[in-house]
Amino acid sequence: MSARAQTGRAVILGGQTGLVGRPLTQTLAAAGYAVLPTTRSQLDPFDADAVARALASFEATHLFNTVAYTAVDAAEDDRDEAYRVNGDLPGRLARVCRDAGTLLVHLSTDFVFDGTANRPYVEDDAVNPQSVYGASKLAGEQAIADSGLTDFQILRTAWLYGPGKKNFVATMLGLAKDREELRVVADQIGSPTYTVDLAGWMAELAGTAARGIFHAVGSGQASWCELAAAAVAAAGLPCRVTPIASAEYPQKAARPPYSVLDNRKLAAAIGRLPRPWDATVREYVYEQMQSSI
Ligand SMILES: NC(=O)c1ccc[n+]([C@@H]2O[C@H](COP(=O)([O-])OP(=O)(O)OC[C@H]3O[C@@H](n4cnc5c(N)ncnc54)[C@H](OP(=O)(O)O)[C@@H]3O)[C@@H](O)[C@H]2O)c1
Repeated sequence: MSARAQTGRAVILGGQTGLVGRPLTQTLAAAGYAVLPTTRSQLDPFDADAVARALASFEATHLFNTVAYTAVDAAEDDRDEAYRVNGDLPGRLARVCRDAGTLLVHLSTDFVFDGTANRPYVEDDAVNPQSVYGASKLAGEQAIADSGLTDFQILRTAWLYGPGKKNFVATMLGLAKDREELRVVADQIGSPTYTVDLAGWMAELAGTAARGIFHAVGSGQASWCELAAAAVAAAGLPCRVTPIASAEYPQKAARPPYSVLDNRKLAAAIGRLPRPWDATVREYVYEQMQSSI
């Protein structure tokens, strides 16, 4: 019996090894999808014929793309590769999905905005990326829209942390174990988001008739310093977390100073508001502490 016949819903997932790909594989399987997670050595996402053959043989109803070039600073010097992976690939996948009648679920970023707003960004606010990474991700959104595919969901997410791969919160906890003080940027404000929750929203949204762009982030807002402080407090570590200005921590790529995303469109589509970011930080930290005992 085919995977689709068994469950009614079958997905192919690109980027299985990524920060989102790992929990998403588990969440989709738990939600009753037949899942074929793929790494770059199992399925080259740039090989349109191979992707089309895989969709057909798995009778895939959905293609989840979490493949991306995510090294934000490195992208400034590696523009062609960033655009190849973040800009060109989503368009290729969209054309394959268009021809196969498959729903494409894709991820984008808060970095498509310039960060000059004075309220959370909604989906149709004007975009104006300030980095190569942000511009390349925006090119990917536009390539999907231009492909002729109407059956797509693009979830713009932000500031991800979660199990299985290096991330900001895990890095802060690792440093806080050995240091008396962490000095962390306090003048960039965004939407911290737990990958396990993001995976759940993706699975739920994919089961609805909603299409288009959605802001998919934890509720509330924080600076990097507040996020680090919440994680250190949850872990009970005796480390001081001191706010600093971005100018004291120069980075190659420009970051939006304010990139909070309004998640009410997603909430309306899935029937619930995402959990507040601080509750999910505590959950993540406690689970990391349990797994290291
Ligand atoms: N992380 C964040 O804070 C954040 C924030 C906003 C939006 N997003 C978006 O969320 C999505 C998932 O991000 P993530 O953090 O899970 O990314 P990630 O951890 O960097 O994982 C990226 C995945 O893409 C694969 N990949 C990269 N280049 C490839 C290539 N040329 N060919 C085939 N596979 C390739 C990687 O495979 P290998 O393991 O083999 O390299 C990995 O599985 C992306 O669209 C990203 O732009 C992330």
